[in-house]
Amino acid sequence: MNNIDLDKYFKPDLKQARKRTKTTIEELQFDMNDAHQKIGLGKTYKIDTYGCQANEADSETMAGILELMGFKATHEESDADVIIINTCAIRENAESRIWGELGRLKSYKRQNPDLILGLAGCMAQEENVVERVLKKYQHVDIVFGTHNIHKLPEYIETAMFNKERVIEVFSREGEIIENLPKVRQHQFKAWVNIMFGCDEFCTYCIVPYTRGKERSRSKEEIIGEVSELVKQGYQEVTLLGQNVNAYGKDIKETDYTFGDLLRDLDQTGINRIRFTTSHPHDLDLKTMEAMRDCTHVMPFFHLPVQSGSNTVLKRMNRHYTKDSYLDRLNQLKTTVPGISVTTDIIVGFPGETEEDFMETLDLVDRAQFEGAFTFVFSKREGTPAAKYEDNTPEDVKKQRLYILNERINEGYLKGNMRFLDQIVHVLVDGVSKYDDTVLAGYSEHNKLVNFKGDPALIGKIVPVRITQAKTWFLLGELA
Ligand code: SAH
Ligand code: SF4
Ligand code: F3S
Repeated sequence: MNNIDLDKYFKPDLKQARKRTKTTIEELQFDMNDAHQKIGLGKTYKIDTYGCQANEADSETMAGILELMGFKATHEESDADVIIINTCAIRENAESRIWGELGRLKSYKRQNPDLILGLAGCMAQEENVVERVLKKYQHVDIVFGTHNIHKLPEYIETAMFNKERVIEVFSREGEIIENLPKVRQHQFKAWVNIMFGCDEFCTYCIVPYTRGKERSRSKEEIIGEVSELVKQGYQEVTLLGQNVNAYGKDIKETDYTFGDLLRDLDQTGINRIRFTTSHPHDLDLKTMEAMRDCTHVMPFFHLPVQSGSNTVLKRMNRHYTKDSYLDRLNQLKTTVPGISVTTDIIVGFPGETEEDFMETLDLVDRAQFEGAFTFVFSKREGTPAAKYEDNTPEDVKKQRLYILNERINEGYLKGNMRFLDQIVHVLVDGVSKYDDTVLAGYSEHNKLVNFKGDPALIGKIVPVRITQAKTWFLLGELA
């Protein structure tokens, strides 16, 4: 395919992506024309998903669109007529893996020149990525970002019939598109987007640039989607947003916020409600009280802290201090007794000193986290922190990560120990990865539980008495 004129494409622009406008976001209903519904007949697709639940949910939408076009899913790359890589840009190692994948897929394109290879997701929103694809990855046919998934039928049509490369990435969000088809990964657990984008601009993070401004779906659409899932037999929903605690704050006409949404969803008949992720600065008492009162909202909270040092938190633009975080956490634990709390922590943020790191360890001890995702800071081009002076050697950062993880693992074990001899309720996911006579699933507090049982229990919620607590999982027997 010819791509001599590099400027004819719709490329991303991080400076544009940083801008926030006050315009109200409109809602549009997705619709597919008859011609598009025939394009995929007799053909297959494969989607590879990287990154967070937002991407998992987007891939379900892409699959829904492709199936409405007539495509069927395949697991075999060598069979596929369309392969889409849904990418993540959060850290450099996430991106390196994806570049490797793109290189590897070149051989399939040689075997099957009609294969359409698409690059989607957060990496597609980055200028340097699109430039590199244009120059060095000629075998990629379609590049589209997080704001225009609904236009996939047009892109496939152009690539397939006009044999033209399609690069269309919008730097700014458009309308919220409703009525999108979805092929869900699970039969009894579902992702439900409640909002898109992020306006927090933590100085290390690329997400506000790749996902646009915060915009909430209407409560009617969300409640409608969950009610429909209940009818279809779903047991659990996980409400998704980069900062779910900001839900509704962008809708000026109402003061309906996240706590109200939890209360309404609790009435839909869904058995379990989870959500991710929350920003501590936006977590309010209304949400905590809703968690206390709603029987179907699970007693589990992922509350990323990132650092225990006030100077680091300030340079991260997190809008709270170590003490205010701990105060809010205590308020959460008193309002919702027994709640399990996990977190995210970054070590080696530019300028992080040994004392700063000690503050983080101290916070971990005081917060009693029952788990954490821990990361070494990764420089993201276009974010403010990429320009901050960073003198800490890589091996010191790795050492800090190691020490932190040891501490966190103690928290995992302690958190699991408190369920010894207790009965928990497990939504059975499937058989264990290691032993197919053993079932695996998650308890109310999001603890992985293994126990012997009939695979007919998959998709059901069953009582299990805990007999042993390990660092990463609990063992039990049907009660
Ligand atoms: N909106 C969510 C998820 C953000 S990404 C939230 O605020 O929690 C998930 C985690 O990745 C973040 O919490 C942070 O700990 C980590 N992360 C984000 N950018 C990073 C970077 N540049 N380097 C290292 N870790 C990063
Ligand atoms: Fe990134 Fe911060 Fe937004 Fe989370 S809240 S997505 S860490 S900018
Ligand atoms: Fe990655 Fe984008 Fe999610 S950068 S973590 S896929 S929002």
